[in-house]
Amino acid sequence: MSATSELRFPEGFVWGAATAAYQIEGAVHDDGRGPSIWDTFSRTPGKVFQGHTGDVACDHYHRYADDVALMAELGLGAYRFSVAWPRIQPDGTGPINPRGLDFYDRLTDALLDQGVDPIVTLYHWDLPQALQDRGGWTNRDTAEHLADYAVAVHRRLGDRVRTWTTLNEPWCSAYLGYGNGVHAPGEREAGAAFAAVHHLLLGHGLAARALRAAGAPTLGITLNPADVQPADPASAADVAAARLVDGLHNRIFLDPLTGAGYPDDVLAHLGRLVEPTFIRDGDEKLIAAPIDLLGVNYYAPTYVAGRPDAAGGGGAYPGTEGVVEFLPPTGPLTDMGWMIEATGLTRLLERIARDYPGLPMLITENGGAFPDKPGADGPDGLGQVMDTDRIAYLDGHLRAAHQAIARGVDLRGYLVWSLLDNFEWAEGYRKRFGIVHVDYLTQRRTPKSSARWYQEVISRNGL
Ligand code: FCB
Repeated sequence: MSATSELRFPEGFVWGAATAAYQIEGAVHDDGRGPSIWDTFSRTPGKVFQGHTGDVACDHYHRYADDVALMAELGLGAYRFSVAWPRIQPDGTGPINPRGLDFYDRLTDALLDQGVDPIVTLYHWDLPQALQDRGGWTNRDTAEHLADYAVAVHRRLGDRVRTWTTLNEPWCSAYLGYGNGVHAPGEREAGAAFAAVHHLLLGHGLAARALRAAGAPTLGITLNPADVQPADPASAADVAAARLVDGLHNRIFLDPLTGAGYPDDVLAHLGRLVEPTFIRDGDEKLIAAPIDLLGVNYYAPTYVAGRPDAAGGGGAYPGTEGVVEFLPPTGPLTDMGWMIEATGLTRLLERIARDYPGLPMLITENGGAFPDKPGADGPDGLGQVMDTDRIAYLDGHLRAAHQAIARGVDLRGYLVWSLLDNFEWAEGYRKRFGIVHVDYLTQRRTPKSSARWYQEVISRNGL
């Protein structure tokens, strides 16, 4: 690395890392926490790799102080964590469990003590099971409950937490949770998936409005918008396929969030599959509650072709069979089998800036899973993790983000996914995304080479 930075990020650019409650906390029975849909799902045979669960995970619930110290050592300016709704309202509604709030209170204080800015995500997929028993996100009431829960968390942390985001990747909650069943609660029904999309958006709007009224200074939502590309830009069928996927993945969220309501082509597609009675007059106005920040999670691009014999995207993209062929990823892949294409991030950020102007963005997740193993050569004899492939991934994506900034995109910061190796949903613990290695037998944390590299990047504010 050269002595002077060659690529500098704007002054005040936020550098941090992200995690999510169910993926790291463990302690699923501590201090009155109720069950979540991921407890149920991970205990259902065949749903998660080798029956892994989040019961212990990284035991962050008990080790948070050490983890925060590690963040400070790495120089993180911000830490994005999610609050587990079932800790705050074990039954999803009704009485607040103060012991659940105590944990996030301690965590927030520990972060601020170390100069790390807390960024709260209110909902990262761990719906209280009691709400799922009443239909989960297919039930409109869940949207109202989200707003009540948001206010309860804000009441406790609002004096210290400045940045609040409502949902993480509602695309996954809706389409993977209710469409193809790969995620909790494991339902497979197009109507349920679209109802979930709408109720998640409505919940976001109601929560954002309530948080605003309560005085939250910076409000947002995190999406995983897709960089959808036609296999052949000169093929009308490929372009139409890309447009359909863009509608189902991006515009169905971004248009109503930014006040344009649901796009006509998306409503027409949806109307061919389900009776959208769940969309009521006035809902789109509620969804459009003003936000200050869009969280963008990016991992890989999506290439599609238009073909009459196309398999489509199954429940994750209802109604795309016979239209959209999702092309298999090519080139170097991560351990998730995801394509590595950093330019997709530049394209995506520029596209959002162009089509949804005036919305500052924060990369709330970006990173790669690689099969890291501690070597035998650590200075302490316990093994270093030389994850050069992850460094290359992060370096490439930071350059891509910088490129977008240079072209005028209002990008405020970058949060790496993830601080720690953790419970990667249906993949269990076999996929490692951390810049810090976790030995699940001993809970020992070992910063990987990428953590030290990132530390250097942060200290230089550049590459
Ligand atoms: C995102 C999720 C996050 C993590 C990464 C790899 O979709 O938000 O929890 O699993 O993918």
